[in-house]
Amino acid sequence: MRYLPLDEISEEMRLARPIFNSDGRVLLSNGVKLSKTYLERLRAMGYERLYVYQDDGKQTDFTTSISDQTTGEAILSVKESFAKASKRQQLNIKQVNEVIDYILDEILSNPTVLFNIMDLKNHDNYYYLHSVNVCVISTIIGKKLGLARDKMKELATGALLHDLGMVCIDPQIFSQRRRLSEEEMAEVKEHPKYGFGLLRSSRELSILVAHTAYQHHERMDGSGYPKGLSGNDIHLYGKIVAVADSYETMTSERVYRKALWSHEAIRELKENTPEKYDPEVVEAMIETAAFYPVGSVVALNTNEEAVVVDVTSKKITIQFSTGPRINAIYELEPDSEIKIESRLS
Ligand SMILES: [Fe+2]
Repeated sequence: MRYLPLDEISEEMRLARPIFNSDGRVLLSNGVKLSKTYLERLRAMGYERLYVYQDDGKQTDFTTSISDQTTGEAILSVKESFAKASKRQQLNIKQVNEVIDYILDEILSNPTVLFNIMDLKNHDNYYYLHSVNVCVISTIIGKKLGLARDKMKELATGALLHDLGMVCIDPQIFSQRRRLSEEEMAEVKEHPKYGFGLLRSSRELSILVAHTAYQHHERMDGSGYPKGLSGNDIHLYGKIVAVADSYETMTSERVYRKALWSHEAIRELKENTPEKYDPEVVEAMIETAAFYPVGSVVALNTNEEAVVVDVTSKKITIQFSTGPRINAIYELEPDSEIKIESRLS
């Protein structure tokens, strides 16, 4: 299995990870043969890379942080919350709570859960899938930090809806598909404030959910926005979502810049700690996100190359892609003799 640019995908390959539309429905499911028509449609929709199986040989299933069904329901719940908020209607908190409970159940019941994939976003589902990923990453960080379930629930809800205030920003700004001007940027920077207002008006939600959205762009040294809060004036949930949001944004492909690899984004977070990010949260983040996500092609210390086919917090499963052991599956544990030296693609 590989994570390949569309140009390198040929018709005999099959999809290894479902494509969700903006309603959270599976548009193309695992195992589908990628015909020319499908590939053209996906390209037109703005997809640049896909997870694919290269041959009909045996395929290992990989571990994901949450199930495809929960991912789909979470995408739908974010989309509906955004739609309601844009019409200034009350959010469907019952639906949001249900989705958050599924996410918590799945993350809490999996002892080796990591955030190990690069998700397949396009311009239609970008904000929804981004929100779901930030929620999953924040929840796993919260778990690492030992938060109780009721606290994790507040954190996860704030993380899922952190960008809700974007509905108050002129949609024209986002249709530009280019880097924003200073003026436009100033307007976008208002979204945490708007999000706070929208979430605060939902009486069934804890006020901390609203504060999480308010504070997710604040930075430890006071250089963030909208209030320029610093240090411990920023709530723990705000610090966690700041790290999860930055990581998710850096590893996503945007129109105006390429995505960073996971290990590069982690390096960037580390370089900005403790100035921008809370050291304890970043430490937990590093243990939460796979350095070499599923689909990475890596160089080994044995001069062979391999593809990462599964990652958990206990081990990395690779499949050799060159050398005498080609196609063989191998499980790397911390004390294995074989080590990953670098990421190739
Ligand atoms: Fe934001």
